[in-house]
Amino acid sequence: MQCIALLMAAGSGSRFGADRPKQFLTLAGKPVLRHAAEALLREGGVDAILPVCAADSQALVAGMLEGLPCLPPIPGGATRQASVRAGLEALAANPPALVLVHDAARPVVPPGTVAALRAALAAHPGAIPAQPVTDTLKRGAGGLIEATVPRAGLFRAQTPQAFRFADLLAAHRAATAEATDDAQLLEAAGMAVALIPGHEANIKITWPEDLARMEATLSPHLI
Ligand code: CTP
Ligand code: MG
Repeated sequence: MQCIALLMAAGSGSRFGADRPKQFLTLAGKPVLRHAAEALLREGGVDAILPVCAADSQALVAGMLEGLPCLPPIPGGATRQASVRAGLEALAANPPALVLVHDAARPVVPPGTVAALRAALAAHPGAIPAQPVTDTLKRGAGGLIEATVPRAGLFRAQTPQAFRFADLLAAHRAATAEATDDAQLLEAAGMAVALIPGHEANIKITWPEDLARMEATLSPHLI
């Protein structure tokens, strides 16, 4: 079954605060976004990547991904959800059976992730990697604890998230509220999304210390 991976790279990295979006910064000798693309492709199961980025970064992104099986980058939108929708609509005329949605700011896709996601799609319209929450959770207000939130059954969602293409496109077209990941849109449409084991190495670079930590500790994982 054909599988295209959307590589989400249209964000500006405002929390990171560098002179360029964080996905264009260098990690272990390569742009973060290229690590993400190579990691998605490494074990097979992904036929091609469709990068989604800011309109003025399309040439830059194409250059960073040179030599990989990538479609020409397309412009994203003002929110991550709008960017994913743009990618899906770009594929709608000639739709793949399966689609992965991956953050370009996540340079590590742990071994086995794509295969496990694809296997889960045999039984469910969507599947995501997720890690059980291990910290004790507090709800706070005004600098004080209001409540301890039971963490049983809570997970941290990662990417790549995998979907049957037609189901994700339908969920995006039906969306009425902003979602922070794609699984949420399937949930809202009443479709089952499977959880597969995530991995601590699958870090989304958000703050400068995330990149520094990866440079120091994870470089051996990055080829
Ligand atoms: N993203 C996107 N289009 C947007 C916003 C985000 O494609 N309009 C992408 C980012 O490039 C990133 C991923 O979605 O790879 C996850 O988003 P996030 O970590 O929030 O990145 P930014 O939005 O760039 O960062 P910030 O929220 O700090 O500005
Ligand atoms: Mg953001």
